[in-house]
Amino acid sequence: MTEQAHYVPALGRPELTGAYDAVLALVSRERRWRRMLLDALQPRDGELIVDVGCGTGSQAIAIKTRCPGARLVGIDPDPAVLAIARGKAKSAAVEIDWIQGFGGAVDTLVGPGAADAVISSLVLHQCDLPVKGEILAAMARLGRPGARILIADYGLQRGMLMRLLFRMVQAVDGWERTAFNAKGGLPGLMRALGLGEVVEREWIATPTGSISLYAARVG
Ligand SMILES: C[S@@+](CC[C@H](N)C(=O)[O-])C[C@H]1O[C@@H](n2cnc3c(N)ncnc32)[C@H](O)[C@@H]1O
Repeated sequence: MTEQAHYVPALGRPELTGAYDAVLALVSRERRWRRMLLDALQPRDGELIVDVGCGTGSQAIAIKTRCPGARLVGIDPDPAVLAIARGKAKSAAVEIDWIQGFGGAVDTLVGPGAADAVISSLVLHQCDLPVKGEILAAMARLGRPGARILIADYGLQRGMLMRLLFRMVQAVDGWERTAFNAKGGLPGLMRALGLGEVVEREWIATPTGSISLYAARVG
């Protein structure tokens, strides 16, 4: 099934979306990995930064709050999370463009080569393998030459404990699609799609498995 026909909601089932922020804070060491992504991004005034699969908007809002001079765009196919994101941005008094759309179309939605940086967090582990590829390829087309690509997501699960803990996520988000990430497949896929300087910059252990930060550049 392609992403145009289907997406997995933030917590696996639509009726749980309202609880996403509270659950994530409890089970993922959220502040730690969001900070890791933000510090690696180093947003600058005047930059266009796009958050692919932005969900309830927490990362985009954190970036805009740290760097009010950057232009932020958040894209997600799910109108329910975008409604939450809009409310949070209003409360935080930050302006972000929220667009409903699939990750595989972000370049056409925003403009090919338009972005200085493209980020995504906790999206790819939920997607089937062809969709992971479609999203990463579209992120690469969206970035200008040299643009930073940053992915924070469940990645290679090192050791028995992380693999066991990650099973909670796998049970919610699907075994096959999550196994690719757990075996450390993302960096190879990023390279195969033409991204350069692909590295796993850091990873942190969480109560639901380890979350990695992958960095790359558009060639
Ligand atoms: C676990 S949530 C992560 C949300 C957010 N990035 C964060 O850090 O909290 C995964 C998000 O990916 C979105 N999503 C699922 N399939 C997608 C696709 N094909 N393209 C873009 N976003 C997608 C879901 O709607 C959901 O909001």
